[in-house]
Amino acid sequence: MSHIIIEGRGLSKTYMAEKSEVNALNNVNIRIPRGEFSMIMGPSGSGKTTLLHVLSSLDKADEGEVLIGGEPLGPLSEKELARLRLGKIGFVFQDFNLIPNLSVVENLLAAGYLKKEGARDLKNRAAVLLEKLGIGDKARSFPSELSGGQNQRAAIARSLINNPEILFADEPTGNLNSSASEALLDTLTGLNREGQTILMVTHELRAACRGERIYFLKDGNIHDTYNRSPMDERIPEDTLYKWLSGRGW
Ligand SMILES: Nc1ncnc2c1ncn2[C@@H]1O[C@H](COP(=O)(O)OP(=O)(O)OP(=O)(O)O)[C@@H](O)[C@H]1O
Ligand SMILES: [Mg+2]
Repeated sequence: MSHIIIEGRGLSKTYMAEKSEVNALNNVNIRIPRGEFSMIMGPSGSGKTTLLHVLSSLDKADEGEVLIGGEPLGPLSEKELARLRLGKIGFVFQDFNLIPNLSVVENLLAAGYLKKEGARDLKNRAAVLLEKLGIGDKARSFPSELSGGQNQRAAIARSLINNPEILFADEPTGNLNSSASEALLDTLTGLNREGQTILMVTHELRAACRGERIYFLKDGNIHDTYNRSPMDERIPEDTLYKWLSGRGW
């Protein structure tokens, strides 16, 4: 099995805005190895969300191709793509996107039922995941009864219900206060230590320091990449700050 989980080759995407075209991605090449926790940073509008959507097959590039586990997505039908997304990809958004009239555990089950497996296994897994994410006691609560941090934990639990090969997260701490944000980052770091591959977009320096690799996007292209020293458990904040400042962050 390839140790590269997701690969983007020559990805370009242009949006048609009212009177002009926006080059959101401009020949991006990226390879994400299994087990890595990496970050995408860059100025607003540099294409971070677009890149995450294209890599996770939520959206399509105009040019280039995405390969998951070495398999190109181009030839797949919508139905095959949907099945692949369901089985291999987890996605977490800034604003949680839980279904408001389902309880936390029902949100997980709804995502899992699509895969048509035994109900008991699924329920067990949902319970284990909620426990692991520290919200085992909130299973029967509704999203409106939870704090932002708890909602995001529920969203992450839901995204992991089908054991995805890779977890994509677009500014998952963007709506959290700093203590909830640190706690969530600890959880993501823990999941990564257990082997979960994570690719996350963030604006926040402290969050980015958790990454093993930082991809700096500028004008729709990977302008530069920072690799954490194997000696460090976290990238030192001042080091990353200097690196980012030097690139116009
Ligand atoms: N649906 C769309 N239609 C037209 N233009 C779009 C669309 N989505 C994004 N864009 C444009 O594409 C560029 C990249 O957008 P994208 O959302 O990927 O940026 P980003 O790096 O995630 O920004 P932010 O940090 O603000 O979230 C921007 O110039 C944006 O205005
Ligand atoms: Mg964005």
